[in-house]
Amino acid sequence: MSHTAGRPRFEIQTFSDYLERNSAVMSITSKAELLGMQRISEVVATTLREMVAYASPGMSTQELDNYGASLLKTSGARSAPYVTYGFPGYTCISVNTAAAHGIPSSAVILQEGDLINIDVSAELDGYFADNGRSFVLGRDTKGHGKLVSASTEILQKAIKNIRGGVRIADIGWLIETEAKRQGFNTIKNLVGHGIGRSLHEDPKEIPCFNDRSNKQRFRKNSIVAVETFISTKAQYVYEASNGWTYHTRDGSFVAQHEHTIMITDSEPVILTINNGM
Ligand code: CO
Ligand code: CO
Repeated sequence: MSHTAGRPRFEIQTFSDYLERNSAVMSITSKAELLGMQRISEVVATTLREMVAYASPGMSTQELDNYGASLLKTSGARSAPYVTYGFPGYTCISVNTAAAHGIPSSAVILQEGDLINIDVSAELDGYFADNGRSFVLGRDTKGHGKLVSASTEILQKAIKNIRGGVRIADIGWLIETEAKRQGFNTIKNLVGHGIGRSLHEDPKEIPCFNDRSNKQRFRKNSIVAVETFISTKAQYVYEASNGWTYHTRDGSFVAQHEHTIMITDSEPVILTINNGM
């Protein structure tokens, strides 16, 4: 969440609050599963937060990824894109017009004012969590701040409206409507997803647009990774020749923010709350 003066815009329910209020309704098994999810979520959130703090002008995305890899290793976690898909890196680092799945490289040197996205997903004890953040490096010399704040704010608003029984398409509608209200578009071919025992689970698609063909609803006690892809103009991204990285074709910039959340009867529990968003 971008920092604003005074009170936070939204009240956040913490995991321990939830356990305190709802432990009676959870079976031992699901409580153990939630604790497993909490542990890995804490690891990916902390790794993301520390990587954002570590990034500085002149550093390569390879150096930044090496740092993230060392944090995951220290926590005993394994990079999910690396183990699941053979991604050539431990975290995804996408710079400027790269929208997602950027491959860490010694040839990509970070500059002041760059729009950077770091996406960290990992596995620990058979549980997976996923989170991502776009941010402006140092001073906002290229004016990306508004896009980043919009994406952060819209993710918070979307999460606040998710609960068991809500249609996935309605949350997509909310994200797209909020983006348009602020003069932005959303990407139609990158989506959020269920998560838990693997990186990508059912529901396979949690789009950030109004996809009326999507009839699925959020289920109470399930875990999902909700992601915004807010764009200055483009509505689609295209895979680069490296077979991984997605770029816009028209030079549009895309901001993504992602949390792993547990769905309840009221506001979700944000498991990756400590990522410093
Ligand atoms: Co992610
Ligand atoms: Co994800």
